[in-house]
Amino acid sequence: MGEAGPRILVLHGPNLNLLGVREPEVYGTTTLAEIDAQIATEAQARGATARSLQSNHEGALIDAIHDARDAADGLLFNPGAFTHTSLALADALRSVGLPCVEVHLSNVHAREPARRVSHVAPACVGTVTGFGPTSYLLGLRGLLDYLSAHADAR
Ligand code: DQA
Repeated sequence: MGEAGPRILVLHGPNLNLLGVREPEVYGTTTLAEIDAQIATEAQARGATARSLQSNHEGALIDAIHDARDAADGLLFNPGAFTHTSLALADALRSVGLPCVEVHLSNVHAREPARRVSHVAPACVGTVTGFGPTSYLLGLRGLLDYLSAHADAR
């Protein structure tokens, strides 16, 4: 962990660039830029820094996870629909070994059965699902607490 405090990489998967207009009855009307601003403010208040990246491409997300090895202390990750399909993203998380918190705006357990399956969750330290944009802030809080509790181990 650097002197500037923990560095958090926030990753958003496919279709999350359209938050605000995408199925507002499911995902609300807050835009991704607004969510990222809230995360950055919360991180700063906790003495951390947060950098955000969104991609619609599984490979680009895998590359970002690999690059985080040297550039981040922890990951906050909404993998979108890749949550339910991607062993490759779970493998990438295990490969870098960085603590990751999985977040979802909607309550994936209250939706279609296929969304109850997460390939990513077993590679994460925890999951927050169903609280809209607040899921990210709760996930950030959990991740920062986890990092300070495990500071000696890193
Ligand atoms: C989501 C839930 C996923 O099932 C869905 O495919 C998404 C968004 C969420 O944040 O609620 O794209 O990850």
